[in-house]
Amino acid sequence: MNAPPAWRVDCIVGARPNFVKIAPILRALKAGGFSARLIHTGQHYDRAMSEVFFNELQIPEPDIDLGVGSGSGIAQTAQIMIGLEPVLLAERPDMLLVVGDVNSTLAAGLVAAKLLIPLCHVEAGLRSGDWTMPEEVNRFVTDGLSDLLLTTEREAEETLLREGIPRDRIHFVGNVMIDSLLASLVRAPSAEATLAAHDGALAFRAEAMSRGFGLVTLHRPSNVDDPARLSELLETLAEISARLPLVFAVHPRTRARIAENGLARLLENRLILTTPPLPYLQVISLMKSARLVITDSGGVQEETTALGVPCLTARASTERPITITQGTNTLVGLSTVALKNAVMDVLENGGKRGRTPELWDGRAAERVSARIGDYLTDRAKSK
Ligand code: UD1
Repeated sequence: MNAPPAWRVDCIVGARPNFVKIAPILRALKAGGFSARLIHTGQHYDRAMSEVFFNELQIPEPDIDLGVGSGSGIAQTAQIMIGLEPVLLAERPDMLLVVGDVNSTLAAGLVAAKLLIPLCHVEAGLRSGDWTMPEEVNRFVTDGLSDLLLTTEREAEETLLREGIPRDRIHFVGNVMIDSLLASLVRAPSAEATLAAHDGALAFRAEAMSRGFGLVTLHRPSNVDDPARLSELLETLAEISARLPLVFAVHPRTRARIAENGLARLLENRLILTTPPLPYLQVISLMKSARLVITDSGGVQEETTALGVPCLTARASTERPITITQGTNTLVGLSTVALKNAVMDVLENGGKRGRTPELWDGRAAERVSARIGDYLTDRAKSK
């Protein structure tokens, strides 16, 4: 008798944080005997936002690239749905896997649900409670559509149960982003080498190496799309840099808003080094050596917790409460005065120490693969 064919799992990626999450999952699926196909929506397409991550994280070339590119969130979501339907109809997978909360996650989730393809959501059950964030809509809808919901922290299960998701669909597996982090740290350059890789960093490098430095990433529409808010934040960074040199890795959205609003002069400061979006290994090299990180990213809140580096989150809410209750994250809100005070507090007192959350152990992707195997086995039996 022939062996049964390997189950086919189609994995969707679109934007930068997806790449970091999918790398260990693809490896674990392969090791588990699945046939995994990688579909890139093309939401992020720049070399700096996409290709570099594929190379550094050793992600195989996508089998299919939908090439949607830039657009409003609604246009992106619609384009991805239109592009994905024929792909899934031509070769129907046993399961579609989506990660995180970006527009590609939502779009692919909707297509799977409409085509009655079982949907697995990795990083389910996170909620900020802030419906002005596009990601919050993406999280809620994707979870509502999913057949298998895999969570990074226990509180996420409580959230999903409150929303009426049946308990047997939910499994706590840990955090695949931390799998990538732990697997990559050994390959990361020194912070000094990373700074040296950026032109004009010589004077900055000397300051940063003697006094320490902070790492800054800001890209949320709520921080960068309103010119008054953005300018206030940039002025605050200039003030902070007098106490702590800052490396500011500027996201394309942020760079565009700075240029449109004529705010670049606010960053002309020898104690602020601005860089393009950094390759993964460079960003983790800076993160692990920084005295603190100022961010509005979701993933960075988690990575700093795993690295034990104080993180100041410039947002009113977080969907990742465990980084606050157990990790090194502090939610500073939208006040720039609070941000400055929080920086001073870390510089004077060392900041939160925190501990590593449960199952952020570098093996989450193995559990993802195992749960998918269980799900598909049960489903085959019940047919
Ligand atoms: C998206 C995600 C966000 C994630 C972030 C990480 C959604 C709703 N948001 O936000 O959750 O934290 O990615 O980066 O999906 N652009 C480029 N090159 C690229 C990609 C984008 O220049 O490769 C520019 C585009 O002109 C676009 C802007 O950056 O207008 C924003 O890109 P978009 O994908 O819409 O959202 P992000 O802000 O990156």
